[in-house]
Formats: sequence, structure tokens, C-alpha cells
Amino acid sequence: MTDTTRSSSDIFNNEDSNTTQNPHLEDMMAARLSRRRLLLGSAGAVATTALGSIGLTGCATGAGMGAASGMSAPLSSLGFAAVGKSLADKVVVPDGYNVQIIYALGDPLKASTAAFKNDGTDTDWDNRAGDHHDGMEYFGLDANGKPSANSASRALLAVNHEATTDQKLSSFFIHTDGGKTSLPRPAAEVDKELSIHGLSVVEIEAKAGQWSYKQTSSYNRRVTPTTEVVISGPAKGSEHLVTLFSPDATRARGTLNNCGTGKTPWGTFVSGEENWFGYFHRDAKDNDRRGKNDQQVPALVRYGRPAGAASRHGWESAGTEDKYVRWNNGAVGANAKADYRNEMNTFGYVVEMDAYDPTLAVRKRTGLGRFAHESVSFAKPVVGQPIVAYMGDDARNEYMYKFVSAAKWDAADANASNRMAAGDKYLDKGTLYVASFKDDGTGQWIELSMNNPIVAANPDFEFKSDADVAIFTRLAADAVSATKMDRPEWGGINPRTGEFYMTLTNNSNRTVDGDASLDSANPRFYSDMKGSKENKGNVHGHIIRVASGKPTDTTFKWDIYLFASEADADKSKVNLSNLTDENDMSAPDGLVFSDVTGLCWIQTDDGAYTDKTNCMMLAAIPGKVGDGGKKTLSYKRSDGSEKRVDTYIGKSQSPDILKRFLVGPVDCEITGLCETPDGKAMFINIQHPGENTPMADIGNPSKFSSQWPANAGYGAGKRPRSATIVITKKDGGVIGS
Ligand code: FEO
Ligand code: CA
Ligand code: CA
Ligand code: CA
Repeated sequence: MTDTTRSSSDIFNNEDSNTTQNPHLEDMMAARLSRRRLLLGSAGAVATTALGSIGLTGCATGAGMGAASGMSAPLSSLGFAAVGKSLADKVVVPDGYNVQIIYALGDPLKASTAAFKNDGTDTDWDNRAGDHHDGMEYFGLDANGKPSANSASRALLAVNHEATTDQKLSSFFIHTDGGKTSLPRPAAEVDKELSIHGLSVVEIEAKAGQWSYKQTSSYNRRVTPTTEVVISGPAKGSEHLVTLFSPDATRARGTLNNCGTGKTPWGTFVSGEENWFGYFHRDAKDNDRRGKNDQQVPALVRYGRPAGAASRHGWESAGTEDKYVRWNNGAVGANAKADYRNEMNTFGYVVEMDAYDPTLAVRKRTGLGRFAHESVSFAKPVVGQPIVAYMGDDARNEYMYKFVSAAKWDAADANASNRMAAGDKYLDKGTLYVASFKDDGTGQWIELSMNNPIVAANPDFEFKSDADVAIFTRLAADAVSATKMDRPEWGGINPRTGEFYMTLTNNSNRTVDGDASLDSANPRFYSDMKGSKENKGNVHGHIIRVASGKPTDTTFKWDIYLFASEADADKSKVNLSNLTDENDMSAPDGLVFSDVTGLCWIQTDDGAYTDKTNCMMLAAIPGKVGDGGKKTLSYKRSDGSEKRVDTYIGKSQSPDILKRFLVGPVDCEITGLCETPDGKAMFINIQHPGENTPMADIGNPSKFSSQWPANAGYGAGKRPRSATIVITKKDGGVIGS
């Protein structure tokens, strides 16, 4: 969800707990090194030399389940006319394109489940599409229903259902009267709310160019916050994951607030748990109960749950059954085996699912760290080299991460028959790194493990094992003074260059000086007006990119590919990428490269420019790190002195290479993107249309801020619904070309 001025539920979506006073890296490192006489080890070798040429191996990777089928020649310009900014309650695409709505909140996933009435009376929610469709991946099926990397007409979509449209505890569109907004919450309402979170797998098929989902497919699946899952990787068995449900800390229940996604080189789905902390209740006395020596107390604060924190939906209040009590994260029992004091530690991971096999449990891949996960971007695998995955922690002033597997890539695993075993092999053992950006345009990946003495000897939080690093990752990253970023969202690997891109969606806490002061990688502070309201900080966000000689390198070069901005903003301070009416945007969030065209698709989740346009998706032909130049920005500190910030900016934009492709209906976010292997059908999610509808207007559809998708002819009722759409070209061509 966006950061800037939206619904009251935003407080639960933007945890803000990084109060570390990380100064610039150079100062910090110098101080720590001299104070402790510790060395970073080989991972800490400072990168000052220019990096060698990027090792490119092309993009056609053969026919493995995790592989793309091929890539077209580079485009020199985008093959469509830009769509204008829009406030209409519909999906707008360029001339020559079609939009079909195929899969919305409440759609039945079993033959026996009733059609969706969309009036708050629907039941059987465990067998319906969940809410707030977010990240999504495509898993092809051949004509016989068997896995196929090349099928462009039949597939499974694996979909995140991140959250729900809520105001004051309730998830209001799914309850007849909007639901109860005080405690205790009714169990019947909470049961529905639990079921609409999690993941779904749904079979889809195209017949004569018309896509639809298949209600009766045996592949259809729901994973909810109550589905049993398996803990994998270094944190398995940790004392910090012991619960009444799983005293040996090997199992847990469910996945929650799933935002970005990824597809592994061995053909499974991975999903990031993002704003899970907000679902937990801690009463005001919980710190006293735990005692001063309980390391969980500072960890809970660092992960957004100080004592007295109220939960987003009050699920813990719905009764004495275990499925409700577990959302109380207080140390209320005799010990950790008798309560759910550790329940929150079982969330915050990347989870892996085999979309093709509904019988296999989802696994929490704890080796990839615990934070507000978004997407997982896998570098192109190279035989004999480790698997490398890039990730971000989406909260203000949080960090960017990289995981490097211990196992070396075996090309046979692209067609592994046991895909989850391949996941065990590549994701359960490896090394996690956090990014530090320097002001000379280079950067460093710093190892987060007990091998790094700064982590192992950290005076602020005692790490006893790599399990502790996996569970309390943010505290380890604080210790090494990683760079505080402007809310890392989705990442993507440019298939033509191997460079890693990451959206930094916005940061209302960025300041000229102070704890989150401007730095080279987060260099903008400015004011933007939305009507009569002034927003300050990095209001519109930017996209950073990183180039390495090899994905496993611990040093890199970086620049800022794109500064998001309104077109009429000052070109010397704010609109630094020269955006125009055809491509101006705010709050880039989703970012996916097409494996067919190499185009970079950018999606927004914005609250700052929504006085002029609904959220959107743009297509880009990106260049490469270093194709622009150095830029020095000048600011005034609070004491009146000048602060100069050097940054590195990609080449100036133009509508030939960056163009608005789609604008969504009112109050939505555009998110999730996957495509058929031929690039001729693209699947997108429209999340939470109508979310700013006042709850008091639940009985008055004419007051809904959106009636999409019903107003586009999809489904019963008028209540707005999150939904998957598919975009095709009327001439049958490749999208964007
Ligand atoms: Fe769920 Fe960070 O967006
Ligand atoms: Ca967002
Ligand atoms: Ca504005
Ligand atoms: Ca997001």
C-alpha cells in the first residue's frame, strides 16, 4: 500500500521502526572499525575501482520449468500511443488493445461453491478468490494439463491476496452491513477475514482469444493464514519460533500480507510476507511480563510491535479458539510452549509454493531473512554458480538485501520433478547480504551472518546463531549500518544486461538532515501539493539500479534509473528525469521485466498524484547503469548551512522510451504482472478499487468511489472488487511492441 495520504488503514501498512541513527557509511565504518578493531572480512573489501564489463549470457534459457522461452530483438521505440492521465472508473489501455476481467474477489474455486453474490452474504470463503490481488506468476500447462514452460493458452496463475479493504477493524465490503468496528470482533466476521488473505492458485485458459478461469480445476487451491505450513532453513527449530501449535518450531500456520512475488529457476512460486506485524495484538503490560532481559522486547519494537500495539482487525478478540488466540503475541502463558509470544516470529519470510501440486505444503524460506518482504528477483542462473536473489524491505528507511545460495546451479534442476526439494537445496543454505550505497556511485553487499564479526559481536542485540540472524534480520542490518532506503518495493533483473532494478516508492520521513538524512542513493527532498495539502520528503519515489560483474560479487556500481515526478515540477530539483505528460508518475511500486520483449513495466501505488490521475502502468526501454551522469543537488540544513548531495542519474527520459500504457479505476493500485511465454497476453492485478469509500456508505452504491469491475460487466452486485485482468493486442501481436 501507498504511504501518502490515503485510507485510515494505512497506519497498519507502513511500519516505521528504524530509529537507528545510521550515519553515512564511511563515517560509521570508520568509527566501528576503530572502536572494535574488527574487520569486515573479505566481504567488506571496499569497492573503489570501476567494475569490469557485465558478463552477459543472453536471455533465451531453454525450456526448463523456470525458464523463459526466448527473447525478441531490442525495441528502439515503444509501439503504442501513450494513454493520458485518467480519473475515470475504468481500465484505460492504448488503442489496439483489449482488456478482459478474468478473476475477482469471491469468485468460486470449486464446483460446489455458489456463484458470488457480492452483497456481504456470501459463504464458503476458503474456496473463493481472496482479496487484494497483488503479485502473481504464470505457470504453463500443456493440452493434457501437465506442466509446460511454453504453453501460451492454458496455465495456472498463482496470486497473492495481500490484505483487505478495511476501515476501523472491519473488512467492510465482505460484510453485509460493513461489519463490526469495535472489540470484540464477531467470530463469523473474523473467519471470513482470515480466509480472504493468503494465496490462491487458479487455472486459466484461452479459447478463441477469450480468457477465463476454470472453476472446477483440480489445481485450484487456497492457502490462508490458517493453512499448516513448514518452517525451512536456518530458523527451523529455533527457540524463537516455539509456539503452542509447534513446540519443536518446525511448523507454523499460514502466510499473511503477501505482496510481491517471484518465480524460481526451478519453477516454483515465491511470495513475500510484507506488513504481517500489524495483525498482532500486544497488551500494554507485555514488556513487564517478559522482563528487561528478554531480547524479544527490543526486537518486537524494531519489527513494529511495541507493547500496547493494537491489531489491525482485532482477530485475537473473536473467541477462545486457538485460531483467534494466536493473534495475541503476548507472553501470557507459563512459557513459549504454552502461548503465542513467538507467533509473530513465524511471519515475515519468503514463502515457497509449488503451484502445480496442491498437496505439498508451503515452506517458509527463513534463509532469505525476516522483514517486510516484497518481490524476489532471481538473477539468471549460471551452471556451477550459486543462485542469487535480490529483495527489499518495504518500510520507510529500511534496506535492500541479496541472498546467495550455498548450492551451485545444476541445469537439470530447471526440470526438477520434485520442485520443493530443489527449493530446499537452493534456498535453505546460503548467505544473506545487505546493501550499502556509497556517494561515489559504488556500493557493497555486506554479509549478515555470524561470520561477520560486526554482527557476531554486536553490543545492541546478541546474535547467538545464524537462526537469530534469519529471524532478527533488521537488527543485524542495523549493526552493519546498511543504507536506509526510500521504501524498497519490487525488484527486477533486466534480462538484456543482468542489472538489478528496484523501486523505492516514496518516503515521507526523508529529511535534509537528521536520522534519515538525504544521501546519494536517496537524494531528493521536496514539497508537492495535492490540492491544498502539502506533502514533503521524497513524495514520488525513484528507481535505483545496480550493476555487478557477476551476481555473486560483493561490490557494485549503481545509479538512479528514474526519478518519479509530476511533469510540471522543477526540472533542476524534482523532475530530474525530464518526465512529460506522456510518462509522468508518482510512487513506482510494481516492476517487472518482460522475458519476451525486455521491456520494463512499472506500476504505481500512489496517493500523491491521485488528484490528477488514478494509478497506472508504464512501459520502458531502459538503458544501463552509467548512461547518464553525476548530478549535485543543493539543500539548506535546519541550521541554514548548505548540504550538497552528489547523485548519479540515468539518461534523460523521453516518450519514445518511457510511456504510460494503462490507467486503472478509481482508488486502485496497479500491481502484479506476468505474461504468456509468447508475450501476447499480459496479466495484471487491479487492487482495492474503491478503497476510499466511506464505510457509512456501504448501503448506498451510488456513493462508492468505484463500482469496478461490475461497471465493466463483470459479476454481480456493485461493490468494488480486486481482480485480475488480461491484456491482449487486437492484432494478436506482442504486448508493447
Ligand atoms: Fe504491499 Fe509494499 O506494497
Ligand atoms: Ca506500495
Ligand atoms: Ca501534486
Ligand atoms: Ca507493493
